[in-house]
Amino acid sequence: MQTITTISELREQLSAARNAGRRIGLVPTMGNLHQGHLRLVEAAVENADFVVASIFVNPLQFGPQEDLERYPRTLAEDQAQLRAFGCNLLFAPSEAEIYPHGRVGQTFVEVPGISDLYCGSSRPGHFRGVTTIVNKLFNLIQPDVAVFGRKDYQQLHVIRRMVEDLSMPVELIGVGTERASNGLALSSRNGYLSESELAVAPTLYATLNQLADALRSGSSDYPALIEQAQSQLEEAGFMRDYIHILRRSDMLAANPDDRQLVIIAAAYLGAARLIDNIELDL
Ligand code: PAF
Repeated sequence: MQTITTISELREQLSAARNAGRRIGLVPTMGNLHQGHLRLVEAAVENADFVVASIFVNPLQFGPQEDLERYPRTLAEDQAQLRAFGCNLLFAPSEAEIYPHGRVGQTFVEVPGISDLYCGSSRPGHFRGVTTIVNKLFNLIQPDVAVFGRKDYQQLHVIRRMVEDLSMPVELIGVGTERASNGLALSSRNGYLSESELAVAPTLYATLNQLADALRSGSSDYPALIEQAQSQLEEAGFMRDYIHILRRSDMLAANPDDRQLVIIAAAYLGAARLIDNIELDL
């Protein structure tokens, strides 16, 4: 597996792969890879015959007070893991290569409405940053298939909308969340947690499971169920951000007669903001 940093090298490598008739798969990441990312690479290997991973800590998707500077950068370890999992090419560009006109001068892509809700409300501009970089990567790599984690549920929904709205010729695959044995969803940001916070962190998923069980057993007072879940998280040591019960189809507030639901949550624990979700069919 070769690592390249420039757009010209990328184009060269990709035209060779394309001319050889290979189906190109893309796994976009910000690096600091864990088992969750490696499942995405596995899915790409199963669905394509030339797999490109990208590692780029995208400044446009971080707010001014967020963790851009201290986001973990572990290129050598990431390269070794990608190689071991059958990735063919790693694209790890600099910021100047990706945003030659700077962060402010960059043309952007934004999916309206949904980008401002939930994580988009807590992190203004975040999804605009995500759709801008993903659009750019799609233009550069022109993948036949691109793989994303379903842990970032809203992100995948927003990217699906972008692909649909702009008629992008790419198939999207969403891969289920990889969890530690205690239920904690794997995330690069778990590295911000102290040992005692790591012991508390699985409460987020446990609380969502309890909420899902209550819905399955017929409770339909959503505001009361959400408030109970929020209090439980606060008692465990989290600070609240949001919990929502949504329809899966459009990620808007579910009514009691909706059947295909997703519960999404975000909560602060120490220096980390954790997100998680559960899909359920009633
Ligand atoms: O999910 C991520 O790691 C990032 O948001 C992505 C999709 C690589 C865009 O920077």
